[in-house]
Amino acid sequence: MLLERVEGSTKLLVPVRATKSLFYNPMMELCRDIDIAAIAALATRMVYLDALAGTGVRGIRVANEVGLPVVLNDRSKEAYEVIKRNMELNGIEAELFNEDANVLMYRHRYDIIDIDPFGSPVHFLDSVARSANRLILVTATDTAPLCGAHTSGLRRYAARALNTEYHKEMATRILLGRVTRDLCRYDKAIQPLLSYSKSHFVRIIARVDRGAKRADECMQRLGFIIHCFSCGNRFAVHELLGINERCDICGGKLKVAGPLYLAPIKDDKFCAKVCNELRTREMGRKREAMKLVETCMNELDIPFYYEYHNICKILKISPPPLQYLIDALRASGYEASRTHFSDTGFKTEAGIEEIKSMLNRHNKYLNQPSRDR
Ligand SMILES: C[S@@+](CC[C@H](N)C(=O)[O-])C[C@H]1O[C@@H](n2cnc3c(N)ncnc32)[C@H](O)[C@@H]1O
Ligand SMILES: [Zn+2]
Repeated sequence: MLLERVEGSTKLLVPVRATKSLFYNPMMELCRDIDIAAIAALATRMVYLDALAGTGVRGIRVANEVGLPVVLNDRSKEAYEVIKRNMELNGIEAELFNEDANVLMYRHRYDIIDIDPFGSPVHFLDSVARSANRLILVTATDTAPLCGAHTSGLRRYAARALNTEYHKEMATRILLGRVTRDLCRYDKAIQPLLSYSKSHFVRIIARVDRGAKRADECMQRLGFIIHCFSCGNRFAVHELLGINERCDICGGKLKVAGPLYLAPIKDDKFCAKVCNELRTREMGRKREAMKLVETCMNELDIPFYYEYHNICKILKISPPPLQYLIDALRASGYEASRTHFSDTGFKTEAGIEEIKSMLNRHNKYLNQPSRDR
C-alpha cells in the first residue's frame, strides 16, 4: 500500500511499511534536505545519478527542487514502477533504469553520483570511483563495523576501527579513507565538502578532482589515530614508524586505528552556502538541518573529539556546562569547539592532561566555600 507524502516541494508515493523491494525511511528526510541544499549550492548544470533510488525521492527532489537533469535507477522492479509514478506526480522527465547500479556506472560516466545503499556502500565504490566526474554523495548505515564494534570493519574498509568515545568521527574518517583509496586507483582525489554522522548513518559529500598529482596529494591525507584506553590520551600520525608502544602519559598500551582520513572533512565556505540555501527553502527538517550544518562549519579541524561526561566520571567530579569548559579552554589559549558528532563532545588542541587539570581546577573552585571564591 502506498501513501502520499511531501518532502521539500516534492510530492511522493511511499510505502506504508518499507520492504527490501520498496524502501523509504522518513527519518532520512534530514539527510535529503541537506543534500538538496548542498547540490543547489554548487549551482551548475550537472547530471545527477540517483543510483539506488528506492522510491526515487532523492533524484526526483533534485530534479524538482534544484532543476538539474537526473538519472534514476533501482534494480527492484517494484521500486522502478513507483519511481515512474513519482516522476509523473511531479511532472519530471528523467532517464530511468531498472539495472544493477554497478553495471550502469561501469557503462556510463556521471557528474554527480549518489549512493544510498542498505548498509555498506563498499560494493559500489569501485564503479563510483570510475564513473563519478565532479561530485559524490555516499551514505553508510553499517555503523557497527565502521565504529569498531564488529570485525567486518577490517574486511569491508581495509582499516581498523577502535570503539572509542569518538567512534562516530572514526566511522566518518574510515569511510572517507576507503573512498580516497578507491578513487586514487583511477587518478582521482576527493575534497570533502560536508561529512557528518547522525543517528544510524554516515553521509559524505565530496568534490571529485582529477589527476595523478591530486590523487597523490589526497593519499598523503591518510594516517592513523593512536589511542590510550587507560588515560584517554589520543593523537594523529601520518606514519607509524617511531611511535612508542606505550603511552607517554600513563604507560598504558597504545592502540592504533586506521588508515583513515585525517584532513578537514568539510569546507567552511561550502557549509556557509549550504546554510544559505537551507535558509531560503521550504523544507521539513530545515531547522535541524541548519543547526547540523552550522555546527559542522564551526567545528575545529581536529580528527577526534572528547566526551566531557566520561572525563568527569573518571575524575569523579560533576560536569560543568559544556560551554564553560570550551570558554575556559579558549581563555587558556587553546582552540576549542563543539562537535556535531555529539551534544556532549568537544574538540580542542589541548591534550587530555590539560583538559583534566582544567576540570579539576573548576571542581576545586566550586567546592570552595562561596566567600572564598
Ligand atoms: C536504502 S534504499 C534507497 C533509499 C532511497 N535512496 C531513499 O532515500 O529513500 C537502497 C535501494 O537500493 C536498491 N539496490 C540494492 N542493490 C542494488 C543494486 N546492486 N543495483 C541497483 N539497486 C540496488 C534497493 O532495491 C533499494 O531500493
Ligand atoms: Zn595513557
